Amino acid sequence: MPELAYVNGRIMSIEEALVPVEDRGYQFGDAVYEVIASYGGEMFCMDEHFARLDRSMKELRFPKVRVDEIRRATVDLFSKAKIERAAVYIQISRGVSPRNHSFPANVPVQVVMTVRKIDEKNPSARETGICAITVEDFRWGRCDIKTVQLLPNVLAKQKALDAGCYDAIFVSKDGVVREGSSSNLFILSGGVLKTHPLTPDILPGTTRALILEICQEKEYPVDECYFDKSALYAADEVFLTGTITEVLPVVKIDGRTVGNGKVGSVARTLQKGLLGRLKSGNNSNSSQK
Ligand code: PDD
Repeated sequence: MPELAYVNGRIMSIEEALVPVEDRGYQFGDAVYEVIASYGGEMFCMDEHFARLDRSMKELRFPKVRVDEIRRATVDLFSKAKIERAAVYIQISRGVSPRNHSFPANVPVQVVMTVRKIDEKNPSARETGICAITVEDFRWGRCDIKTVQLLPNVLAKQKALDAGCYDAIFVSKDGVVREGSSSNLFILSGGVLKTHPLTPDILPGTTRALILEICQEKEYPVDECYFDKSALYAADEVFLTGTITEVLPVVKIDGRTVGNGKVGSVARTLQKGLLGRLKSGNNSNSSQK
C-alpha cells in the first residue's frame, strides 16, 4: 500500500516527486486542484470533482485539457497505490515558463497528483463537536474557483489553532457568514437549514451539494440564503461539510455555545445519510470508468 505521486505521466514515491522552480503554480499560485476521498477502495463523487476541475480550468482560461485523460491517470494511480481510505490530490498548473505575468504561449499544463492515506485525526471530534472562531474574509473575489491560492485559508486555520480551536469561519466585511477555511457551512435556525447561496464568494462544495440532496429526500426545509454572525451565534445547530470533513458539528463559536453545546440530531442524521451514500454506491464514483 504505497503512497504515490504522479508528475506529468510518471509515477514515483512522493519524496521523489519534484516540480520545476518556474512552474506557474509555484510562482504565481496559477494552478487549480481537487481533493477526492476514497472509502473501501472506491473514489467518491468522481464526476462532481472532475466537472469542477474542468470548470476551474475554463474559468482561468487554461489551455484545453482532456479531463477524461486526467481522470484515467487518477484512477490508474489510485489503483496502483491500493490504499482503501485515501485522499487523492490533483493539482494542475498553467505550465512551466520563465517568470512573466502574462500567459505563456504554447506551454502544456503540468499535472501532479498524490495518493495518501487518510488518518482519521480525531474521530471523537465528530461525537463531541468542534470549536471555531470567525475571521474576516479577505480572500479574492473568485472563491468559486478551486485554486491553490490558499494563503488566507492557511492564515485563518492557523489563527483558529492558535486560539485553541479547530477551524475558522469566514465572515465578509459587511457581516455575511460565508464558509469554513476548507469546508462549507450550514446552520439550523428555526427548523430551517441555511447555507450561503452559490456565488463567487464560496466554493461550490461537492459535499454541500450531496447534503442538499439528502435534505430534499428527507424533506428537511432548506434555504440557500445570506445570514449574519448573530444568526450563526443563535443557531440551534452549526456544521461544516467537505470531502475530508464530511459533516462536522460545531458546538462553540467565538467562545459562545451553539444550541445546547452538544452535537445536534440533524448533523448526526446528515452524517449518517452521507455515509449511507458511500455504502449504497449511490454516487457517481466510478473508479472503474
Ligand atoms: N477543501 N470550501 C472551501 C474553501 C474548501 O476548500 C472546500 C474543500 C470546501 C468543500 O468542498 P468539497 O465538499 O467539494 O470538498 C468548501 C478541500 C477538501 C481542501 O482544500 O483540502
